Amino acid sequence: MNTEIVTLDEKEIDPVIIARAGEIIKNGGLVAFPTETVYGLGGDAFNPDSSKKIYAAKGRPSDNPLIVHIADTEDLKKVTPEIPVSAQKLADAFWPGPLTMIFKKSPDIPRETTGGLDTVAVRMPSDRIAAEFIKAAGGFVAAPSANLSGKPSPTEARYVIEDMNGRIDMIIDGGESQVGLESTIVDLTEDTPVILRPGYITEKMISEVLGSEVIFDKAIVEVASDVAPKAPGMKYRHYAPKAPLTIVEGDPGDVVAKINELGNQDNACGKKVAVIASSENIPGYDGSFIIKDVGSFDHEEEAAHLLFKTLRELDDQGADVIYSEAFKESGVGYATMNRLIKAAGHHILKIRR
Ligand code: TXA
Ligand code: MG
Repeated sequence: MNTEIVTLDEKEIDPVIIARAGEIIKNGGLVAFPTETVYGLGGDAFNPDSSKKIYAAKGRPSDNPLIVHIADTEDLKKVTPEIPVSAQKLADAFWPGPLTMIFKKSPDIPRETTGGLDTVAVRMPSDRIAAEFIKAAGGFVAAPSANLSGKPSPTEARYVIEDMNGRIDMIIDGGESQVGLESTIVDLTEDTPVILRPGYITEKMISEVLGSEVIFDKAIVEVASDVAPKAPGMKYRHYAPKAPLTIVEGDPGDVVAKINELGNQDNACGKKVAVIASSENIPGYDGSFIIKDVGSFDHEEEAAHLLFKTLRELDDQGADVIYSEAFKESGVGYATMNRLIKAAGHHILKIRR
């Protein structure tokens, strides 16, 4: 298949291109598009064949449900028969934005889109190109992240092109994704809201708006647990770079010393060593390593923004082994660590004095 690659500027969105992208979706085709979190791989949410095509293009198991993206809160009524008061409050506070909510599914949404579930995930992105595209496509775009299954979610069009060129009809390049991690997912179908995937919108932000307790899905909190996650996609191996990744956690001085020690051993075996580090620690590392700066300790949004891009770059640079510092878990840092731990296959070295 020939994939058309187009570039759009969010300050001056070309209506002709947007209309063409919308037509592709209405005709059952697939278009990758930018959002503020990561790039999405869109198809018509009401067309079961489109959803099947999405699974095929990603190489993704079809029991892993897709998120339905809308551009108008009023459209929520067409995907779910029941909008809880809590959901209305969260939509008022955080939509458009990086929050996905789980609802009971309306019968019109095909099971192919929801991976066979009776519930549906819905999100209204804030990215302007995404919003215009969704409207042009008829208002309901089912989309997972636009990576091949198992790879880090793409935060730039070039990574979408790497994974999807030749597999879909169109890729819209709208520049870098602002947040860089996928949306927070919250399940409102039970009495207590449950966070199924942490993201930029934090537990604290959600519980403040609701004025009530919010809990995390057990599968997120209990790292080594065999509890099945409620978001089916969270169970799959994810975000993995090609090289094995180890997280080293402890006081900064100890972490730098340990990574230098381990990295030098790997170097001696002829391996190309890479380190994902906070700006402050960079001067301490051995000069022979590939060093990836993901920003200051205190700028957790920067690490979130750079993590997936960094993992992709390390693949391209041919790293054989990767060490990463653990990051502060405040704010979006909790979500960054959640993705990093998955990328590391839970391989964490804790240095205790
Ligand atoms: O930021 C995002 O959410 C991006 C952009 C493109 O919007 N999308 C994204 O989609 O990350 P995806 O498919 O890569 O991840 C969706 C996650 C999966 O873990 C899936 O299992 C879960 O959402 N999910 C979808 N529908 C669900 C449902 N009805 N119940 C529970 N989990 C659901
Ligand atoms: Mg994904």
